[in-house]
Amino acid sequence: MVLLAGCVTREARAPSSAKPVTLFFTSEVRGYIGPCGCSENMRGGVSRAAFQVAEARKTGGPAHLVDCGDGLFGDAVIPEEAVAQQERKAKALADAWKAMGLTLRTAGPLDDARGVPFHEALGLPELKSGTFKVLDGVAIVSAPTLAAAAALVPQATKEGARFVVAVVPAPYEQLLREAMDVRGIGLVVSSKSRDAFAAEQNRLAGGVTKVAQVQSKGRSLLKVSVNLRTDGGVEWLRGDGERDRELYALDERVELVRGQVNEPMLSDEMKALRKAKLEELIARREALAATPVVVPNDRSTVTARFVPLESTFPKDPAVQVFEKAYDVDVGLLNLAYAKEKGVSCPPATEEKPGFVGTAACAKCHGDAETVWKTTRHPRAYASLQVVGKENHLDCVGCHVTGWKQPQGVCRIDETEGRREVSCESCHGPGSAHVVAPLKTGVLKKPDASTCVVCHDRENSPQFDFDAYRAKIVGKGHGG
Ligand code: HEC
Ligand code: HEC
Ligand code: HEC
Ligand code: HEC
Repeated sequence: MVLLAGCVTREARAPSSAKPVTLFFTSEVRGYIGPCGCSENMRGGVSRAAFQVAEARKTGGPAHLVDCGDGLFGDAVIPEEAVAQQERKAKALADAWKAMGLTLRTAGPLDDARGVPFHEALGLPELKSGTFKVLDGVAIVSAPTLAAAAALVPQATKEGARFVVAVVPAPYEQLLREAMDVRGIGLVVSSKSRDAFAAEQNRLAGGVTKVAQVQSKGRSLLKVSVNLRTDGGVEWLRGDGERDRELYALDERVELVRGQVNEPMLSDEMKALRKAKLEELIARREALAATPVVVPNDRSTVTARFVPLESTFPKDPAVQVFEKAYDVDVGLLNLAYAKEKGVSCPPATEEKPGFVGTAACAKCHGDAETVWKTTRHPRAYASLQVVGKENHLDCVGCHVTGWKQPQGVCRIDETEGRREVSCESCHGPGSAHVVAPLKTGVLKKPDASTCVVCHDRENSPQFDFDAYRAKIVGKGHGG
């Protein structure tokens, strides 16, 4: 009887929200609706994020989505010809976020690329810098510095905040140092890394105040669960270390095998084997991450975990609609712009030779052409056509020959004869060489610097000059 009575009193003291409050954070999405697909198994995509958020809502507790800024655009300055595409993309992202029930977002400097009125007109719930909002007992504070965020804590607490998350536009490392000296903030999310490639990884560390960096370009979500059980303070849940270490080890293996899947020109059989391995590892990680954590009833706790949006993860069909509409519209918008205002490439001059196309080279270098045809470079433009993105300005530059060069491709409606990565993509423009081959040369030995213009970190993360070079040379072509 005594025991039972004890139980009852406990029950009676339980707080109003027995279900955890879930918060998802994204940061520096940089206008990424989805991954480009340039290499296999790329992470990310707003429709995959949407699926995760919708699943969390099904558990019954409140779930919020907070975007921490620099989400709408990837560059601070947008060239005239790309304005229609980038604005359309920002609208598509805004539509997707609204459909996902975005609760709040802060605007970063990149969001101003088309002016403040542009992003304000998108009708997204923006949280101004220097203010906060309390969501089911959790305050989201937006402030220019961590100290400024800390100064808002007393007021947030007065307005019912039990746990405070600060969104601060400073790099992760800096925030990690500063976090040791602040009080009252449970989690800091970095919303401004050093450059476009600084937020490649998910990172979370710290003590009472933890600091997080969410993988940029929409490739991961940070998922925070706050369990408000008693009136006391909210502490980070301990005893979860073993599992976190295992998750970390699995993450590393996933990245390793992802690299192996993307080694150049693998046989189909090998690729399939490695992909199967990758999928198995991802499934294991997912299963481990999904095992419910035992949450104590007698105190208030918080946990944080990243959700990498792997290519094997399901997409939310309602949000995919916006992605698809964007893909179609952008092609049409860009074509219309090209027809109306497009400027053709300048002709070759004595100082600046122009591009002439593969057929002209093949007349004298048949052996080289034979080798080139065995590579994937001739298919580069066709690969875009397969996914319907040959008119996307985000894509076409690396998938044609001579982008923005004399006699190359300067407008998307004039690509005839340049629809590939041709000889001249590596050897340079050949208009002078084809007329007087003995007098005027082209680049004899293209090196890594030639390749990385296209094979950059983003689109060819596994690029290794020796390994890739070996795949494009052969008998009669540098072999
Ligand atoms: C900066 C240059 C660059 C841009 C921009 C670019 N790509 Fe690529 N793309 C590449 C390179 C390089 C590869 C080959 C990567 C590799 O195998 O390492 C590639 C490969 C691909 C492939 C072939 C993948 C396969 O396995 O068959 C597709 C499809 C593709 N890209 C689509 C796109 C789309 C869609 C966009 C725009 C959203 C885009 N690319 C933008 C450079 C680029
Ligand atoms: C103008 C852009 C461009 C340049 C320059 C370029 N590539 Fe590529 N490369 C591509 C694209 C695009 C693809 C993917 C084609 C496809 O599959 O659609 C690709 C694919 C490849 C592949 C096949 C990869 C695979 O996974 O099968 C190899 C190998 C490769 N490139 C090597 C090189 C090397 C070596 C250089 C420099 C000497 C180079 N490329 C220069 C754009 C470029
Ligand atoms: C009319 C015939 C002809 C055409 C067309 C031609 N080439 Fe050449 N190319 C030559 C000859 C001949 C040489 C050797 C020049 C020398 O030894 O000085 C040469 C040399 C080269 C070399 C240097 C190879 C070496 O080891 O010296 C490269 C690379 C090359 N050509 C690429 C191209 C490309 C790319 C094109 C198309 C834009 C092209 N060529 C079109 C005849 C031609
Ligand atoms: C992806 C880059 C790339 C493309 C595309 C490419 N080449 Fe090359 N080419 C190279 C490299 C790398 C070498 C080897 C240079 C060296 O000796 O280091 C080479 C060598 C050559 C040579 C010298 C051949 C020899 O055996 O000495 C010629 C000629 C040549 N290429 C012509 C062409 C022609 C013609 C095409 C188009 C049909 C073409 N290349 C396409 C990168 C490329």
